Amino acid sequence: MSDDGEIQLALNDVSVSFGGFVAVAGLDLAVGKGELRCLIGPNGAGKTTALDLICGKTQATSGEIRFEGRSIDKLKEYEIARAGIGRKFQVPSVFRELTVRENLHIGQSRQTGVLANLVRFGGSMDDDELERLAELVGLSDALDSAAAHLSHGQTQWLEIALILAQDPALILMDEPTAGMTGQETGKTAELFNRLRGQHTLIVVEHDMGFVRDIAETISVMHQGKLLAEGSLKEISSDPQVREAYLGSGGIGHA
Ligand SMILES: Nc1ncnc2c1ncn2[C@@H]1O[C@H](COP(=O)(O)OP(=O)(O)OP(=O)(O)O)[C@@H](O)[C@H]1O
Ligand SMILES: [Mg+2]
Repeated sequence: MSDDGEIQLALNDVSVSFGGFVAVAGLDLAVGKGELRCLIGPNGAGKTTALDLICGKTQATSGEIRFEGRSIDKLKEYEIARAGIGRKFQVPSVFRELTVRENLHIGQSRQTGVLANLVRFGGSMDDDELERLAELVGLSDALDSAAAHLSHGQTQWLEIALILAQDPALILMDEPTAGMTGQETGKTAELFNRLRGQHTLIVVEHDMGFVRDIAETISVMHQGKLLAEGSLKEISSDPQVREAYLGSGGIGHA
């Protein structure tokens, strides 16, 4: 939780099963406003499913999900997006044939709340805002390049910029550094550290070097439940966590 202790997102005893298989099994999770929470766990622990439940892609079988004081577990995906939860998916949704600048313009106009759109940007993201975003994600020099010419890492940063353009209070990211070079992963850690406090972030990640560079509190999932929570030091010395990772090559190699 954040220092001021204000809980923004709470999952209370949330479960979901797929054809009898319980992927998330009574998950409890509380994330404070402005927090950068890492969510780790061995393959199949239910991390992606947990993000699917939060953003409404999957409906919980039981339990409650509260965001900013209201129940969101019965809402549709677009209503949850409108309530201020953004999700970065693994497969980029950028338009490859358009430039970074054009993608950012379109990303802004995709904004879920038409009214917010009008109020905040006068209907179109102004160039200052667009350039600020490009700068934030390290794409200033690539604004006029076609998205097709971006590296894998740059494409991921553009995707992140498109989410930031919608200014969600909470952003969910599933393995944002997957497939990145070491250098790109380092830059992504810097970006996340800059976003810290401005948005609440829940980051699912296997790369423990990256987790170390960004983590405050780490939540560990195993078999659909919260297994442990704490600092990197705390969770990596936790016998239950070590046990959970046995057979997957250890905590750094899940
Ligand atoms: N739609 C679905 N239908 C059936 N089973 C599913 C479905 N989605 C997920 N599962 C199962 O639920 C379990 C949890 O999957 P999930 O993808 O959430 O794990 P994860 O922690 O994200 O794993 P990884 O680290 O490999 O990405 C897995 O056993 C998976 O096979
Ligand atoms: Mg996953």
